Amino acid sequence: MNSEGMKDATSTGVSTENESSKVSKVTLIAAIDQNRVLGKDNQLIWHLPEDLKRFKRLTTGHAIIMGRKTFESLPKALPNRHNIVVTRNQNYSKEGITVCHSVKDALECAKDDEQPFVIGGGQIYEQAIGLADVIELTEIHSQFEGDVFFPKINLKEWSIEKEQRMVHPDFEYSFITYTKK
Ligand SMILES: NC(=O)c1ccc[n+]([C@@H]2O[C@H](COP(=O)([O-])OP(=O)(O)OC[C@H]3O[C@@H](n4cnc5c(N)ncnc54)[C@H](OP(=O)(O)O)[C@@H]3O)[C@@H](O)[C@H]2O)c1
Repeated sequence: MNSEGMKDATSTGVSTENESSKVSKVTLIAAIDQNRVLGKDNQLIWHLPEDLKRFKRLTTGHAIIMGRKTFESLPKALPNRHNIVVTRNQNYSKEGITVCHSVKDALECAKDDEQPFVIGGGQIYEQAIGLADVIELTEIHSQFEGDVFFPKINLKEWSIEKEQRMVHPDFEYSFITYTKK
């Protein structure tokens, strides 16, 4: 990690001619309940307009990496973003997306972006959390029934950089930015 919390492109931080000199801040972005529930029946559970606005504001102009199931839960590729979809299906193809076959390949595809976002779902967060520098989490202080979960955040590895408490008619929630120690 360098002083800005970004990963160096090489282990020494010195790049050679054949290696990218680009550093990127890999960011997971998710909304979870207090038990880390992410969704149910391949859909989001809650409707939080402020969270959707924040998601759009943070991700617009960037690469967004998602699992095939999350992509198929959307009406179409999200505009003004480089949509990268991870699947094991070698024949997968849809309009407006780049297809990759692992999270590492997806990050390689996004290497020109200084802040690629991993936008879910559960399987992809699980595989990406160890590669991430930042987690932008919306934590809803309530409980929902769900079938997909965000991985546990180990507070020995992550620190809270920012926290903003929000209110909704039915529950409170917080926008929390975690950075890798
Ligand atoms: N609350 C939130 O912030 C949030 C955000 C995003 C999603 N979600 C929710 O999360 C749920 C979907 O999550 P999910 O865990 O079921 O699915 P997912 O992570 O979106 O996608 C899983 C799919 O990704 C592909 N995949 C996973 N690992 C791979 C690997 N190592 N190599 C190649 N392909 C790989 C596979 O696609 P193939 O089967 O095609 O091979 C797999 O079926 C939905 O309920 C959605 O609404 C919530």
